[in-house]
Amino acid sequence: MTDTCTLIIFGATGNLAQIKLLPSLFHLERADLLPPAMRIVCSGRKEFTSDSWKQYVREVLAEHARDPLAAAHCDDFCDRMHYLRGDLGDDDTYLGLADVLRGEEFPDNHVFYASILPSAYGPLVESLDRHGMLEENGAWRRVVIEKPFGFSLESAQNLQRKISRHLREDQTYRIDHYMGKAMVQNVLVSRFANLMLEPLWNRNYVDHVQITRTETLGVGRRAAFYEDTGALRDMLQSHLMQLMALVAMEPPVSMDADDLRDEKVKVLKTVRPIHPAAVPAQAYRAQYTQGYVDGHKVPGYLEEPGVDPSSVTETYAALRLYVDNWRWRDVPFYLRTGKRMAEARTMVAICFKQPPKHFFRSAHIERPPPNWLIMSIAPEESLRLEISVKEPGLQMNTRQISLDAPFRCEHHARTDAYEGLLLDVIEGDRSLFLRYDEVEWAWRIVDPVLGVWASERDYVPTYPAGEWEPGEVSRIFNREHHYWRQLVDPSS
Ligand code: BG6
Repeated sequence: MTDTCTLIIFGATGNLAQIKLLPSLFHLERADLLPPAMRIVCSGRKEFTSDSWKQYVREVLAEHARDPLAAAHCDDFCDRMHYLRGDLGDDDTYLGLADVLRGEEFPDNHVFYASILPSAYGPLVESLDRHGMLEENGAWRRVVIEKPFGFSLESAQNLQRKISRHLREDQTYRIDHYMGKAMVQNVLVSRFANLMLEPLWNRNYVDHVQITRTETLGVGRRAAFYEDTGALRDMLQSHLMQLMALVAMEPPVSMDADDLRDEKVKVLKTVRPIHPAAVPAQAYRAQYTQGYVDGHKVPGYLEEPGVDPSSVTETYAALRLYVDNWRWRDVPFYLRTGKRMAEARTMVAICFKQPPKHFFRSAHIERPPPNWLIMSIAPEESLRLEISVKEPGLQMNTRQISLDAPFRCEHHARTDAYEGLLLDVIEGDRSLFLRYDEVEWAWRIVDPVLGVWASERDYVPTYPAGEWEPGEVSRIFNREHHYWRQLVDPSS
């Protein structure tokens, strides 16, 4: 039986709480998955009365819940909530919170969720401890920390040093919401629940791997966060690196938290370091300018509210990496991410090598296209395998067909990654959360790139919003026939 608890959300009026945390908690409430006596304390800087907070939650849910009409019936959900205005730099906030938490109706086990600017994680943990709020006394205390954990290798190490003075590793839940996505977990299941792929899953058969997350959205109202972060830190060091680890890892001893994380760390540890002189050949960045997305004119990054007009922060980043181990040596792993691009898409595309000899050449096609296995994570959730077959007719020509398998049927309910992860925190299951060494090794990989980019402050290449990245990015490909796979189904 899951312990009941009080969940305290810092930054409860911010973007993440609006679009993910409050809707996910509401969905869990509707699915009857929250422990009955659980309470939620929301803390933010804005002023709300208990009634105006309820109204605010209703509006948030009407906009972001899966079933917006259900938001009208969120009274039970709101009854779990308590709003507390407070500034995190102010001791009175913690004194006020401690006072609230002493109330009988607030269960003794506490989850503190830091949905705040990353620079505030260290001070928050320190303040919680100073006010005795991390003392366990028979109950448990867990702290959820969003990504990015640090801004570089050095700052991640400093942050870790700071928080480890106040928190044990088993109390620290470093969240990467990609690990909560069903299709991301499916990378593991497809690999380790089927024997078929394993013999092919190595340098003898795989030509290269592409891991993509492109978005059509811009930075919106998040300039304060994004200006210091950029695409490499925001998406690549965390989400895409986690995906790469799942694609490349060896079978773990078990699916227990540490066994799984041990194998992911081994992958990150074996990534060949990028020498600063190799950064231009292995990494590429760019920034969007104004353009059209879905027929609407949208501003360029430099015109977004809160962005420094001379900013060189990248909104697009791509890397070529090598996992230098027995299985993967010399197989390029291409990772890319961008905002305001032509399509919103998340996928892992595995391109297989060509057969050693081509018997079936058509007059037009020099050689048949390679086999691709596409694990599409969003918007489609599917597996697609592309193979060559004979073209109908008298000639011995080939054409490509695909085996497509959607992951979800109509009757399968959709859930958000945060729903599962929030439940895991409440239940104390850390397997999908990042251990510190994973984070540190991921920083080691991108740190040389960040260093070089930080020294090049006068120019960043650009791409018009609503289009794919500039062709120059192809300089990171190390073979002529490599190109970005843009679509799951190229014929669509
Ligand atoms: C977040 C980033 O971690 O992931 C955002 O901070 C990004 O900038 C988001 O938009 C993308 O998540 P998803 O689940 O839509 O791929």
